[in-house]
Amino acid sequence: MKRMSPVLPAPQDKTEAVRGMFDAIAPRYEFVNRMMTFGLDARWRKRTVSALGLAPGSTILDLACGTGDLSRTASAQGFDVVGVDLSFGMLDAAHGIRALCQGDASSLPIKSASIDGILCGYALRNFTDLDGAMSEMARVLRPGGRIALLEVGAPKTPVIRIGYNLWFEKAVPVIGGILSDKQAYRYLPASTVYLPEAEEIRSSLVTRGFSGVNHHELSGGLSQLFTATRSV
Ligand SMILES: C[S@@+](CC[C@H](N)C(=O)[O-])C[C@H]1O[C@@H](n2cnc3c(N)ncnc32)[C@H](O)[C@@H]1O
Repeated sequence: MKRMSPVLPAPQDKTEAVRGMFDAIAPRYEFVNRMMTFGLDARWRKRTVSALGLAPGSTILDLACGTGDLSRTASAQGFDVVGVDLSFGMLDAAHGIRALCQGDASSLPIKSASIDGILCGYALRNFTDLDGAMSEMARVLRPGGRIALLEVGAPKTPVIRIGYNLWFEKAVPVIGGILSDKQAYRYLPASTVYLPEAEEIRSSLVTRGFSGVNHHELSGGLSQLFTATRSV
């Protein structure tokens, strides 16, 4: 069983704590991301959008869109993007998205079977109700629709894993604290304990009506990407 860190909120406080943290880091969120991934996150985002394999003009939900980084990548590839996020601060800092809406992933303000594809970047571990969010993804997606879920990874090669752990668990909280908000950048590495193993995510998706679930490791496992199709 994964160990919980003292910097993580109590389960009943998670939604409000997560909302408050993202409100606080919103103004410098994208700048800090680029710094901390040495710009690699832009490459992973492009790969995520391409992995949808949908035609330009398709309607895409960017779930937990934050400041719209993934949305803008999708718009640049010709998609029609709608963004939903919990944090008003992140939505306020967002730009380049045609339609934005405040909402919770586990109860989306979106009509059933109305969306062609769903993108979700680095948000699964932040959801209080991940199962509820997956059920909502299945509900709003049309049959045959696609999902591409990007998350932090867990590199398996020992040397990459040691370097990654040192960077993510030790350096990120310090650098994030200096550039942005100390508490939030202590939470972010610790929050990986909320992320289920890949096999568990795969079986949750299958249970909720997704097929062809694929799991890809990006850049030696620094990030991971799940893709799947809503069964017809
Ligand atoms: C690490 S940020 C990722 C933002 C963006 N997807 C990206 O790729 O840069 C996580 C986002 O998830 C949002 N979030 C957390 N819990 C949520 C929930 N229950 N429903 C919707 N959004 C949520 C946060 O407000 C935050 O914007």
